[in-house]
Amino acid sequence: MELELLRQNFESAGQGHVFKYFNELDEAEKNTFLKQLEQIDLREIDELKATLLKGNSKIALDFSKLEPAPFKPLPQNRALDEEWRKAKEVGEEAIRAGRLAAFVVAGGQGTRLGFNAPKGLYKITPVMNKSLFNVFAEKILSASRKYGVRIPWLIMTSHINDAATRAYFEENSFFGLNRDNVIFFTQGLMPAVDSEGKFILEDKGKIVMTPDGHGGCLRAMCRSGAIAELDRRGIDCISYFQVDNPLVDIIDPYFLGFHILGKSEMSSKMIPKAYPSEKVGHFCVLDGKYCVVEYSDLPKEYQEMRNADGSLKFVAGSVAIHILDTAFVSKLGGGSSTMKLPFHRADKKIPYLDSDGKLVKPEKPNGVKFEMFVFDALPMAKSPVIIEGARADEFSPVKNAEGLDSPQTCKKHQKAQFARWLKAAGENIEVDSDGVPSINVEVSPLFASNVSDFVERWKALNTKPKISDGLYIA
Ligand code: UTP
Repeated sequence: MELELLRQNFESAGQGHVFKYFNELDEAEKNTFLKQLEQIDLREIDELKATLLKGNSKIALDFSKLEPAPFKPLPQNRALDEEWRKAKEVGEEAIRAGRLAAFVVAGGQGTRLGFNAPKGLYKITPVMNKSLFNVFAEKILSASRKYGVRIPWLIMTSHINDAATRAYFEENSFFGLNRDNVIFFTQGLMPAVDSEGKFILEDKGKIVMTPDGHGGCLRAMCRSGAIAELDRRGIDCISYFQVDNPLVDIIDPYFLGFHILGKSEMSSKMIPKAYPSEKVGHFCVLDGKYCVVEYSDLPKEYQEMRNADGSLKFVAGSVAIHILDTAFVSKLGGGSSTMKLPFHRADKKIPYLDSDGKLVKPEKPNGVKFEMFVFDALPMAKSPVIIEGARADEFSPVKNAEGLDSPQTCKKHQKAQFARWLKAAGENIEVDSDGVPSINVEVSPLFASNVSDFVERWKALNTKPKISDGLYIA
């Protein structure tokens, strides 16, 4: 776009200040800056200023109408339950037919963990110190072998961590996966603004842009051509998960089966909340539509509300595990539909250039980031399905450097899971009151990634390894 027109557009949108240092830039810097400016949708930002900055950004829900969302409870033994057994059969058939792709959203900044690299590179397993990406790759490879099928893996990065993520896969020969089946794409960016809605300069020729949230994956999958590639490969189901949860059961035939049988456009796993105020979203129904209400938006009395039998009323915690239908993603992310995800605001500390052109690192939040959340797609999905998952087997996120949801808790949960598998196979292994063994053990997903596969393979071993500290079963 011509420079003068661009300048006019920015000026009429109240963003003319971004040109303050323009004349100090050299030709290459000017071109890069103009390219950045051209990508900004000024109309979208104007709408967000009106709704999220000036308006009341708190979600106005009529809580009196809010009901908990129904879900398929997890039976004592899935293999013995007729409905779950049928779902598994349908799911396995679809996996063998090559209808499923895996998809990790890995574009976040992981600030809470404070790790100076893409989060997927974080080393998390108790014995071998494998990274999160390594664990996921082995789970996908193991399922591909088990079902005799190619399972493509989509990886969404952001402009901040894309190069480092791709380089890591190259250095590790894609962890044994066929590189054609690993599809990287970057998510979109949104300009950050100050409290007046003005863009923030981080350099004389650069506006602060931040990733547009995990919900940005819908647009990014369409814009990048990833969805078209899945269509070309005859894939209609996407197993969505987050980069911070190494326990996730990525290729789960039960979940896929329920999704297909329910003709669902978006399915979700719920995990019962560990305690009333646990910081997870809540699966609810409002005006006949399923939705996720964040813990921060749900009043305490609702978080703690009980049924007549004493059980928690809003018990279904959202753990960001979904199956998405590809046509649904195209509908929401393709840009031609009126259905699109809303933005939310997040107040952050954003370094900025002061009036003398010097970079200042603020002590407290001075700016706003705009993000979309993938679970906001739920009210727009036809026939959504929710099934219960088992926390101990499927969910232990690495969010914080220490304490709750940290590498320490996640390693403990992995060890407890491996100890349960050994016990199920008839082995004796000493554990504490939380089920955590005193010794370090690890099972490679290439050996087994669930209890029944583990028991079968363990029993088939001619010589079993000694159960002692540092045991790695591969
Ligand atoms: P989180 O909400 O934990 O955010 O992301 P984060 O940015 O990774 O971490 P903090 O809040 O800075 O500590 C949940 C999942 O969504 C992905 C993350 O990579 C993670 O898998 N995500 C988040 C994106 O892919 N893009 C985003 O813009 C935000």
